[in-house]
Amino acid sequence: VEYPDLVIVGAGLFGLTVAQQAVEHLGVRVQIIDVRDHIGGNAYSYMDEETGAEVHKYGAHLFHTSNKRVWDYVNRFTSFTNYVHRVYATHDGVVYPLPINLGTINQFFGAHYTPAEAKALIAEQAGELAGTDPANLNDKGISLIGRPLYEAFIKNYTGKQWQTDPSELPAGIINRLPVRFNYDNRYFRDTWEGLPTDGYTKWMERMIDDSRISVSLSTDFFDASQPYNKEALKAAGVPVVYTGPIDRYFDYRLGDLKWRTVDFKEVRYDEGDHFGCPVMNYSDADVPYTRAIEFKNFNPERADSQNPNKTVVWEEYSRFAERGDEPYYPVNTAADKELYAQYEQLAASEANTVFGGRLGTYKYYDMHNVIDTALTAYENQVAPLLRK
Ligand code: FDA
Repeated sequence: VEYPDLVIVGAGLFGLTVAQQAVEHLGVRVQIIDVRDHIGGNAYSYMDEETGAEVHKYGAHLFHTSNKRVWDYVNRFTSFTNYVHRVYATHDGVVYPLPINLGTINQFFGAHYTPAEAKALIAEQAGELAGTDPANLNDKGISLIGRPLYEAFIKNYTGKQWQTDPSELPAGIINRLPVRFNYDNRYFRDTWEGLPTDGYTKWMERMIDDSRISVSLSTDFFDASQPYNKEALKAAGVPVVYTGPIDRYFDYRLGDLKWRTVDFKEVRYDEGDHFGCPVMNYSDADVPYTRAIEFKNFNPERADSQNPNKTVVWEEYSRFAERGDEPYYPVNTAADKELYAQYEQLAASEANTVFGGRLGTYKYYDMHNVIDTALTAYENQVAPLLRK
């Protein structure tokens, strides 16, 4: 084989950003491989034929950032709709706005509190455990927002996310539970937000639309029968950017890093709009899923190309991941952090390989974080390797 100048393992936003930068700044030839049969990593989406909905295959993805460098960068490849993220929650048969705000509070208590009155009420209710150190997540939640709101909106939702009773979960999982003492239920507080106008996949295809970039799909870095495998590239001294799981790279030799995953259950309805919003959380224990996503409602501007009589919804069931499951959220206990630090040391001695992205660094990153770290990793780590 004639090797390229750089091989990138993983066609997610980290890998695509590094590939785009390497070609733009140094004119090198880049080979991207991905074990999946599509590019885009977890931000990948596809159009659902029956409904015209853009389905986010690995969970709902909303783009938001306050980082000007990232915003300018992504706007080279896509424009964004004026979508503003808002979430609702069903509790005890009633729908409430989230994050918890004055609307939620007044609806929940059947009241017309002013901001100051609501603030005083929550402070009083949060004082229930005053003077004690929260022993578990339940106590922590109560001490942050008081028992009534905690039990209605946080307790069972968090319990479902972790498949563990919150009285058994460490207090440290939650540091703060924001409550807004006005009617603002805009979910994100970032300067910019929106959804890619022509969809996520079109955006990411444009990032690598260059004859110097080749992509091989359904290609596993650890499969010795394909040319861009770990051992062959090492022997040939080809620089590699690796965005797969860091423990897998080292054959899990120090143990497995723990993740949570989500199972999606698709439900189709013979109606144009099922929820009237894109995201419905289920706060109670009797509904086994945490939330449901109605993808059509992310893109109301596409009404003309959507089916007015059909809609598709994905219910999300959260659980601990086994090897072979999609790793989604790092569990991040003290033991996991310690283990990751050990893998990171091993990674530092791989002179020709740069580890990046959410799997390569065992971190939960939003898309804007991943793009930002990829731009920096390109400058500080990848470009120096390519100039050698
Ligand atoms: P990503 O996982 O996207 O890419 C890594 C690629 O490496 C994958 O395509 C994988 O197949 C490939 N790979 C792994 N092992 C390999 C091997 N052995 N050989 C070849 N290829 C291999 N962010 C945000 O900003 N807003 C949001 O709303 C959300 N929502 C959200 C929901 C859920 C459920 C999750 C899990 C995540 C989000 N995110 C998010 C985060 C977002 O998904 C994340 O920031 C990016 O996808 C990370 O991009 P990476 O390139 O780091 O990894």
